Amino acid sequence: MDSTYTQLNKNLEYLKMTQMVTHLDDTIDFINTNNLSFTEGLIKLTTHEIDFKEANMIRSMVKVAAFPHRKEVKEFDFDFQPSINKQQILDFTTLRFLESQENIVFLGSSGTGKTHLATSIGIAAAKKRYSTYFIKCHDLLQQLKRAKLENRLEARLKHFCKYKLLIIDELGYLPIDKDDSKVFFQLIDMRYEKKSTILTTNINFNSWYEIFYDAVIANAILDRVLHHAHVVMINGKSYRLKNHIKQERTDQ
Ligand SMILES: Nc1ncnc2c1ncn2[C@@H]1O[C@H](COP(=O)(O)OP(=O)(O)OP(=O)(O)O)[C@@H](O)[C@H]1O
Ligand SMILES: [Mg+2]
Repeated sequence: MDSTYTQLNKNLEYLKMTQMVTHLDDTIDFINTNNLSFTEGLIKLTTHEIDFKEANMIRSMVKVAAFPHRKEVKEFDFDFQPSINKQQILDFTTLRFLESQENIVFLGSSGTGKTHLATSIGIAAAKKRYSTYFIKCHDLLQQLKRAKLENRLEARLKHFCKYKLLIIDELGYLPIDKDDSKVFFQLIDMRYEKKSTILTTNINFNSWYEIFYDAVIANAILDRVLHHAHVVMINGKSYRLKNHIKQERTDQ
C-alpha cells in the first residue's frame, strides 16, 4: 500500500502537474512550518503550476508573433532621439490603444528606432497574451499575392484580421503594384475600427499615393489608417550611424 505522499505524487504526475510535483516537498515543509490550512497550502502548491504555465504561454505568444528581435522599451535610449515623447511610448506599452482599436504609425527616416519601438509595443502586447503578429510589408503582400493566385485570398485576409495587433513594418520600402495596393486596402479595411495595426514607414503621408500608384486607393488607405491613430514622427539621426558620427568627431 502506497503512502499518501506517494499516492499524491503519482496523482500529480498523472495530471502532468510537473511544477506541483517539483515543489511538493518544499510546499509541505512550508505548510507545516507556518501552520497553513488545507486551502492555503493548496493555493501555494497550485500557484507554482499556474506561474509556470503562464510563463510558458507568454513565451509561446512572443514566439508566435515572429518579432525580428526581442528589444524592449527599456533598451531604447530616449536621450538619443529627443523628438520622441517617452511618455507617449510608455503609454502605448500599457496597451490602452489596443482596447480602443487605435492604430500607431511610426514615421521617420532609417535607423531612427521605428522597428525597435514597434517591436517593444508588440512584445508588451504578446506578454499580456494579446494575439500579435509582426510582418514586413513586402512579405505580407507576397503572402497575399500568392493566396490570390491560389484562390484563397479571403481566407488569408481573415487570417491576418484575427490578430488583435498586427505590426506591418517597412511600408513603402519596396514598390507595391496596383493589384497589391488593392489587397492592402482590403486588409486595412477589414481591420478598420476592429483591430489595432502598427505601421512603420519612412514615406510622408502626402507621398503615399506614390507608394500605391493610385491616389484614390492611397487616400482610402490613409483615411482608414489615420482615423483613429497616433502618429509618431521621428525627426532625428540614425542610431545605426551613432558610432560613425562619434568616430568622425574624434577624427577631427
Ligand atoms: N534610441 C535608440 N536607443 C537604442 N537603440 C536604438 C535606438 N534607435 C535605434 N536603435 C537600434 O538601432 C537599430 C536600428 O533601429 P530600427 O531598426 O528600429 O530603425 P528603423 O527606424 O526601423 O530603420 P529602418 O527605416 O531602416 O528600418 C536597431 O538595432 C535598434 O535597436
Ligand atoms: Mg525598420
